[in-house]
Amino acid sequence: MNSSLKNRRILLIDDTPSIHQDFRKILLPDTSAESDLDAVEAVLFDAKVKASATPFELDSAYQGQEGLAKVCESLKANRPYALAFVDMRMPQGWDGVETIERLWQEDPLLQIVVCTAYSDYSWEEVLERLDGRDRLLILKKPFDNIEVCQLANTLTAKWDMTRLAALQMSELEQEVQQRTVEIRRTSAALQVEVVERKQLESQLLQAEKLASIGQLAAGVAHEINNPIGFVSTNFGVLEGNFAKLLEVLLAYEDVEQSMGSADVVAKLKSLRERVELDYLKADIPLLMRESKEGLTRVRQIVQDLRDFSRVDSAQELQWANLQQGIDSTLNIVASELKYKADVIKEYGELPDIECWPSQINQVFMNLVVNAAQAIGPERGKIIIRTGVDDDGENVWMEVADTGSGISAETLPCIFDPFFTTKPVGKGTGLGLSLSYGIVQKHGGNISVHSEVGVGSTFRVDLPIRQVALGE
Ligand SMILES: Nc1ncnc2c1ncn2[C@@H]1O[C@H](COP(=O)(O)OP(=O)(O)O)[C@@H](O)[C@H]1O
Ligand SMILES: [Mg+2]
Repeated sequence: MNSSLKNRRILLIDDTPSIHQDFRKILLPDTSAESDLDAVEAVLFDAKVKASATPFELDSAYQGQEGLAKVCESLKANRPYALAFVDMRMPQGWDGVETIERLWQEDPLLQIVVCTAYSDYSWEEVLERLDGRDRLLILKKPFDNIEVCQLANTLTAKWDMTRLAALQMSELEQEVQQRTVEIRRTSAALQVEVVERKQLESQLLQAEKLASIGQLAAGVAHEINNPIGFVSTNFGVLEGNFAKLLEVLLAYEDVEQSMGSADVVAKLKSLRERVELDYLKADIPLLMRESKEGLTRVRQIVQDLRDFSRVDSAQELQWANLQQGIDSTLNIVASELKYKADVIKEYGELPDIECWPSQINQVFMNLVVNAAQAIGPERGKIIIRTGVDDDGENVWMEVADTGSGISAETLPCIFDPFFTTKPVGKGTGLGLSLSYGIVQKHGGNISVHSEVGVGSTFRVDLPIRQVALGE
């Protein structure tokens, strides 16, 4: 054990002065003679001077009160006693039991030997009153010198060990605490990382999914585009041809009556009735008109698919005002919004941005139309916000609605091509996937926050400058 940790300080509290002399003789033997001897021994045997055991320090008090004052003083000076010998019978002041009680109130670590020839209490009573059996020994008078000596040795050593154990324990506790803090910090950091990684993974997954669907869409669009092209052309020709045929047919009808044979006329009449010629004349143009509408729709879908897969980007990048685009697009869809929602504009100051303006307008149109469609029979609100990011590198626009909201199961699918929850004819499921493609192409980001029954907010972030593509 480190000698600086050794505490050999002893306090004797006894009202009999001769006892103090006895203790001094026992515990503080005349060291000068001994060390002379040691020196002689060292010379004779060429040995090192034997390191003598750390000597005791003995203080005296003749009353309980005085003893307590010494203990307090020693604590204040940070030089506590390891051990006190306390006389049981001290008629003038506190007796031993009271003195011990008070000493322990101030210094619970103090080891105590209670010395007595006889007591006013039974030992059971003493132990009952003093709640410190593990720090208390009893020394019955008359005592043997070696008893005192050994008590002093072992109890000061016990005090040292107790303190060392406490020190080590507190060091250990500190270390554990420190480690716990470290572990908590690491685990929190880890958790953040896990969440970030999950988000990144899902973004990546979404991007990859859309990229592969984009390629597929481009292929399909290309394949469909050709047949749709010639079907449309042929259809135009067919329409013209049919008109000509009809003209001829009408001419024939005109001359029918003047044709001689009543037999032929009757045959023609029955043929006309069988094929319901009058009905066909009215129905064929109708069928043709509907088919043409269908063709137009297919063409639009193919165009959307091509836009989504970014096959056509022949247009030039331009510096354009986002707000103007939003306003003119709002005009176009005004009739759709009029009966469904109030449009509230909360525009921030925006710089012009470098973009393909018609495509950005298309994104905005999709978002606004979706917002309107999400609003139920009751009139709702569509709030349009714009602003610039703190770093001044991006602008953003938000379309918020008070519509149905999007359920957690639906949310991961809304950017998929052809994903729609709307009835046939109302939704193609291409609006958002197209918008996603356009925003990606601009190096921007589209995100959504939605709560079922409350509404949805779509946000589009766009860089002001097209760093990679521009210039
Ligand atoms: N503002 C919105 N509120 C609620 N649902 C929405 C909103 N916008 C999009 N959605 C959901 O996302 C789906 C896909 O949207 P979109 O790609 O524009 O296709 P479409 O509008 O033709 O269905 C919609 O069918 C709808 O379920
Ligand atoms: Mg839509």
